[in-house]
Amino acid sequence: MSGFLVGKASEIAEGDKKIVVANGRSIGVYNISGEFFAIRNTCPHQGAALCTGITTALITSSGPGNFEYEREGEIVRCPWHQWEFDIKTGCMIVDPKVRTKSYEVTVERFDVSIKDNNLYVHV
Ligand code: FES
Repeated sequence: MSGFLVGKASEIAEGDKKIVVANGRSIGVYNISGEFFAIRNTCPHQGAALCTGITTALITSSGPGNFEYEREGEIVRCPWHQWEFDIKTGCMIVDPKVRTKSYEVTVERFDVSIKDNNLYVHV
């Protein structure tokens, strides 16, 4: 398994992200309530730098005039056409079949790592 050292876990505060280039791929590494997640920084729609979009909440509604904000900080909104993706899975909110690649992330001591068959990234 190949790897890429991104840096220390302490470099990414809760609610923040770090965009890295690992093996030629741009990847966003997010700290969500102390857990780390990583997704490809490429929107599957038209290729925008997805992880440069705002991080937001999932907005749901039980009816007209009722809006609830859930999962604050777990959704990224593409800066080009506003498609929203679940940072934990890489799946588009309204159509989960559409997705950007997500990477497994591990924390070893104070280092955070992203890995898959072709990539292994430490934060
Ligand atoms: S390029 Fe991301 S929504 Fe269009």
